[in-house]
Amino acid sequence: MNQIFVITLPLHALLIQTLFIYNYRITMFELLAEHLRRIDEASDAHFYSQPRLVKHIDPLACNALTGYFREKLPAGGVILDLMSSCASHLPEDCSYESVIGLGMNEIELQANPQLTDYVVSNLNTNPKLPFDDDSFDACIVTVSVQYLVRPIAVFQDIGRILRSRCPCIVSFSNRCFPTKAVAIWHQLSDRGHAELVGHYFDAAELFEPFEIVDLSPNQSHTDPLFIVCAYAN
Ligand SMILES: C[S@@+](CC[C@H](N)C(=O)[O-])C[C@H]1O[C@@H](n2cnc3c(N)ncnc32)[C@H](O)[C@@H]1O
Repeated sequence: MNQIFVITLPLHALLIQTLFIYNYRITMFELLAEHLRRIDEASDAHFYSQPRLVKHIDPLACNALTGYFREKLPAGGVILDLMSSCASHLPEDCSYESVIGLGMNEIELQANPQLTDYVVSNLNTNPKLPFDDDSFDACIVTVSVQYLVRPIAVFQDIGRILRSRCPCIVSFSNRCFPTKAVAIWHQLSDRGHAELVGHYFDAAELFEPFEIVDLSPNQSHTDPLFIVCAYAN
């Protein structure tokens, strides 16, 4: 079948066009500076100075995420948990060579029992990751992508530090710190969030076509959970 569907969703100044060609998806967003502004433009260091030693999604959503990680993360691999806190949600029955966390709050990172090492770094002031090229077997970005104000620069650097054919797994639910999420996040549906993250992968130009997975454990009774995953090329 050789069909092309074109969907256009007008959203203020934002143009979204999605072309589905077989199962290959090309997404074009025109991201403007105003889409990446936040209600709270004060320093992230200030907002994240208080440790939040909690899980940000409910237990069933956590279990769904852990199950996905069990399937996708290479056993024995070197894993980067980007925008990490006190929980990485990795399966306890798998072992990895190392799990490096990067986040804003040192107390949260110290409290994370699955990290073998961590770095405190602000991706909104410095999107460059402090790691060598081709040094990780997977990267996870859990319920945090909405806080990035330079997302494409960060995704380009994820593509740099990942080894070829290794996955970047971005997950999100329907909650956020509203004052710290970028403006466009507030304007989009769950599907729109997934397409936006897919656009970050496409625009980085270092990944294979992304896949979107709805892992929501029980519609309307638990936190929803969505994954956008792409492999470094
Ligand atoms: C909602 S929490 C999610 C934490 C963790 N990934 C999890 O699954 O529980 C958001 C995290 O994003 C991180 N974060 C927010 N802004 C950041 C920034 N500018 N640079 C690096 N990390 C950031 C914070 O450290 C915070 O722990």
